[in-house]
Amino acid sequence: MLDALWERRALLVSGKGGVGKTTLAAALARAAVAAGRKVLLAEVEVAPEDKDVPSPLASLVGTRASGSHVTEVSPGLSFVRLSPLEGQRLFLQDVLPMRMMADAAMRTRALRRFLEAAPALREMGILYQMLHFIRRTRPDGSPLYPLCILDLPATGHALAIAALPDTLLSVMPVGPIGRAVREGLTLLRDPRLTGALLVTLPEPLPVSETLELSTAIQRHRIPIAAGVLNRMPDNPFSPDGRAAVERLLDTHGPHLGQRALGRLDRARDAQARLAGNLPAPLLTIPELPVTGTELVERIATHLARPPSASPEAPSPGRAGAQS
Ligand SMILES: Nc1ncnc2c1ncn2[C@@H]1O[C@H](COP(=O)(O)OP(=O)(O)OP(=O)(O)O)[C@@H](O)[C@H]1O
Ligand SMILES: [Mg+2]
Repeated sequence: MLDALWERRALLVSGKGGVGKTTLAAALARAAVAAGRKVLLAEVEVAPEDKDVPSPLASLVGTRASGSHVTEVSPGLSFVRLSPLEGQRLFLQDVLPMRMMADAAMRTRALRRFLEAAPALREMGILYQMLHFIRRTRPDGSPLYPLCILDLPATGHALAIAALPDTLLSVMPVGPIGRAVREGLTLLRDPRLTGALLVTLPEPLPVSETLELSTAIQRHRIPIAAGVLNRMPDNPFSPDGRAAVERLLDTHGPHLGQRALGRLDRARDAQARLAGNLPAPLLTIPELPVTGTELVERIATHLARPPSASPEAPSPGRAGAQS
């Protein structure tokens, strides 16, 4: 399962706020590097004025990178903060006859205001900058960054990026811009090259939202590489043990522990619903009692272990779903 992820050129980590996208992106990068891949770990700049604010993603892989240049974090792992404006400059540079024209165009206040105002153009800048990194090669022609893992800031971004090729192609179908967009579209829609990872929590509402996101992303023909059920609570009960506890609760009335049992049941239902309805395998990450870089390392180790090492019951539903 993981090898199939690492074979791709771009992994887009998406999901609602606070579900663990940044943590997971960092852990995926660590696991891919441990598996011998070279990774460019990327995040999206929130606002140009935040350039110097240290990035949470960078700090999760142990560096204090800021700004929009590529930083080598450790052997095989690089980090970059993608900036819409930088991507738009690269784009103009590719479609305008001379580099000077692109730089001059970007200095025009009216153009910059226009580029900043139209959300689709913001997404285009991000996508184009990512494409730029994906296309970069070493002198021998091999890719400089074989795998790019992008931590998308919010669900809306994944959708905006997914919808972007359609939006742009509908307004500029021919010429160099159309060609550049089509190239991005080919990469983005090829399941061998790109995959979205949809991260969610084991509760009913986040799962419903994730299934909606999955439908919307598929409508734009962006391949889904995996679902990720994050923060799965540990189930300490054997079936017999659970039955015994239920009997005790029946005779001794309500108990605070019932809340925990309810959470376990919801989590199990969430896992079954995702496994049964997502068009891709499901990875389940346990709730872990650590934070920061230690959490990242633990999740990376969890991702890298063989599926048979899982202490959890096999998830019901689709074949190929991995817990
Ligand atoms: N498996 C886990 N076990 C325990 N805590 C976790 C786990 N995964 C994530 N967390 C915690 O959840 C919180 C949110 O994680 P994170 O910042 O990665 O989410 P996010 O989806 O990137 O959030 P945002 O939408 O704000 O960017 C963090 O405090 C993180 O330590
Ligand atoms: Mg985040």
